[in-house]
Amino acid sequence: MAISESFSPRKHFLAFLLVTIAAGCSSRTTHANPSIKASRDLLNFVCSRSSNPPLCLQVLSSDPRSRNATLKDLGFISLDAAESQAKTTQTLIGSLLQKATDPKLKAQLKSCQGFYNDSIKQLDQGRNALNAGNPRESGGYVSAANADADSCDEGFAGSSTPEPSELQDADQKFEVISGITLIVTAFLLLPPPPPSH
Ligand SMILES: *[C@@H]1O[C@H](CO)[C@@H](O)[C@H](O)[C@H]1NC(C)=O
Ligand SMILES: *[C@@H]1O[C@H](CO)[C@@H](O)[C@H](O)[C@H]1NC(C)=O
Repeated sequence: MAISESFSPRKHFLAFLLVTIAAGCSSRTTHANPSIKASRDLLNFVCSRSSNPPLCLQVLSSDPRSRNATLKDLGFISLDAAESQAKTTQTLIGSLLQKATDPKLKAQLKSCQGFYNDSIKQLDQGRNALNAGNPRESGGYVSAANADADSCDEGFAGSSTPEPSELQDADQKFEVISGITLIVTAFLLLPPPPPSH
């Protein structure tokens, strides 16, 4: 609930981009060059912008592709991780729905199920956009996916039904992971650095 109040990327994506880009320009723009291979430094650099750096590092490092990844590759890697977390959350919602007897809880879970169904579609669109070389559009789709998870949380916050803690954890984990893609797409929008001499 705290997270949903402080972090609404759809609304704040532009502001977020500006802040991230300003931060990026004041350090070294070479980090943002999509052709530069990921090193521990690049992962640390991206994850230092995350709302949960340890989880960010854990998620990216656990994918063997990260070892030789470019910034753009990190976009795909984080998108895959976000989609996997969205599917885990969907499965969780399905099992909570089966156990639920309270009609109010059922209704909230059903609405979360709809949000997550949409979220997965948005992530697929985000992947297509990144494939097509359009990080801005990709960031827009991923923002929408992220906002879906936020809406699931908000639905509980605005009702008298408490959100099951496993769902709240899964929701927040999804927001952190999809947030990594937002960071990567923001850096991909930076102009390439001047040639070094
Ligand atoms: C990473 O790239 C280097 C050179 O481009 C290559 O030799 C190495 O096998 C790659 N490592 C992995 C894990 O793909
Ligand atoms: C979400 O998708 C699943 C699988 O396609 C479907 O069974 C379910 O009815 C959908 N739920 C909502 C609320 O759209």
